[in-house]
Amino acid sequence: MKFEIVKNKKDVPIEQVMALLKESYWANSRPQEVVETSLEHSDVYYAINSDTGEAIGMGRVLTDYATNYYLSDFIVEETCRGTGIGTTLIHRIVNDESVAKLRGIILTEHRHASLTWEGFIPNTDRCMVREAGTNEKPPMDTDIENFEVVRFSKGIHFEDVMTLMKESYWGNQRSEETVYNSIANSECFCAVAKDTGMLIGMARVITDHAANYYLCDVIVDEEYRRHGVGRNVINAIVTDPELGPLRGILLTRDAHGFYEKFGFVREPRKCMERPRADQKAAEAAQLLHRK
Ligand SMILES: CC(C)(COP(=O)(O)OP(=O)(O)OC[C@H]1O[C@@H](n2cnc3c(N)ncnc32)[C@H](O)[C@@H]1OP(=O)(O)O)[C@@H](O)C(=O)NCCC(=O)NCCS
Repeated sequence: MKFEIVKNKKDVPIEQVMALLKESYWANSRPQEVVETSLEHSDVYYAINSDTGEAIGMGRVLTDYATNYYLSDFIVEETCRGTGIGTTLIHRIVNDESVAKLRGIILTEHRHASLTWEGFIPNTDRCMVREAGTNEKPPMDTDIENFEVVRFSKGIHFEDVMTLMKESYWGNQRSEETVYNSIANSECFCAVAKDTGMLIGMARVITDHAANYYLCDVIVDEEYRRHGVGRNVINAIVTDPELGPLRGILLTRDAHGFYEKFGFVREPRKCMERPRADQKAAEAAQLLHRK
């Protein structure tokens, strides 16, 4: 069958998308308005049958265009499977210039061979998921008189964000441009000291505003740790009327216990990660060095 891959094609009838998702195990009962919102807030790659013009496959990307992307709703119509559409689709997505250098994450029941070929590897120990509808959150008994949690706005100095990122083990090499873009393309929750207006903690959410969010860059200034700042930032996200009900996904090296309090659960089976381009280069260099 002849097909082409098209990004963000606007005239794909919603019925065709609904029909594709009906065949999935994860979104078969997703209401149409939720699907519509999710499409609006993501980059959608369609496999289009060249003869009929119908959408026979899709993959949806949530990204901040700077650090991470989350790939979801990756599906090929049942009768068209096994003909290379999925492989072509994933190849097209991961090589799109908007995400080619970023870290990719996907949750899947089946570790597709095509994902492995495209550089996705199982991530068994760092992934956590807070399923849609989870209500768990710790009691907020902390006295938060000294700071407040707000969305990033003009009042918050970008240099303060850079300072915080420099304190993190994962983002301390990021350029100003990368940090700037990451904030511009995500929802940033900030803990601000009431007396000085200084940024003392933050977390960032990349979301489609409908089904999923990816939580990242959770960091509290070293001086202010263990005073409830981090807890209140995450609490603001999981109790946010729009974000709270969605499925949350995150990767963490060593803070699982912190997130468990909010109903995030370790997910050792489904997560696959495609490391960032520079990470791959660094790992390859390390291997060479060892040899
Ligand atoms: C993790 C972090 C954001 C927590 O913020 P914080 O303001 O220090 O945390 P809070 O004071 O709100 O909450 C403290 C609670 O979380 C727990 N906690 C904090 N860090 C933890 C960790 N790394 N692992 C497990 N539990 C942790 C504390 O034990 C405490 O629990 P308790 O209330 O039952 O005593 C902060 O320590 C930090 O910036 N660390 C370095 C960056 C980092 O690792 N971020 C997470 C990356 S995924």
